[in-house]
Amino acid sequence: MTNFKSEGAQTGGDAAGPMPGSRSPEAVADRVLGLYRDLGDMEYHGESVSQLEHALQTAQIARDEGGKDEEVIAALLHDIGHIWPDDASVMTSVGVVQHDGLGAETLRSLGFSDAVAAIVAGHVEAKRYLVGSDSEYAAQLSEASVESLRLQGGPMSPEEADAFSRTSWFGEKVRLRLRDDQGKTPGLATAGLEEYRELLTNHLEGQGGGG
Ligand SMILES: [Fe+2]
Repeated sequence: MTNFKSEGAQTGGDAAGPMPGSRSPEAVADRVLGLYRDLGDMEYHGESVSQLEHALQTAQIARDEGGKDEEVIAALLHDIGHIWPDDASVMTSVGVVQHDGLGAETLRSLGFSDAVAAIVAGHVEAKRYLVGSDSEYAAQLSEASVESLRLQGGPMSPEEADAFSRTSWFGEKVRLRLRDDQGKTPGLATAGLEEYRELLTNHLEGQGGGG
């Protein structure tokens, strides 16, 4: 099945398109959750869970592991670059190319913290880092993830890995990557989308977001 947004996935009316009107924390949280609610049944690039299931599972793992608020938010929204409407994005069989950077940019523009944006921005690099430095990790990647790795630049060289390991939020980026890889279990029960509304709103309020 291929059912990407460019092929007529449910656009959910107001859920797609630029962020309208108010940018209050409540409005942004509403917009983001609405996007996932309305577009969440999109396929998660060759995997057997939907985008929404994948987001909820990844966030659930972050919560269960005692992740900080920023980590849980980043886990929930790490693939927003795949589903946020963006004319400039390039769709391939494994999703939007550079969805990590697009997602981070989107989150920053919506008022999420630099930490959340940086962790999201780093989750593809973290895969390249892990593949380059851990052969067991490389061996367990899903088929779709191996395919996307090729488009993402392949494994990091030792020099690249060394530089990446010294970036801000390195540990959080790697943890998100590992949770991302795990959040692909068909039919797994998780907390629902609405359970994250308060977390998102409080986080955005803490960044000084306001209408
Ligand atoms: Fe993901």
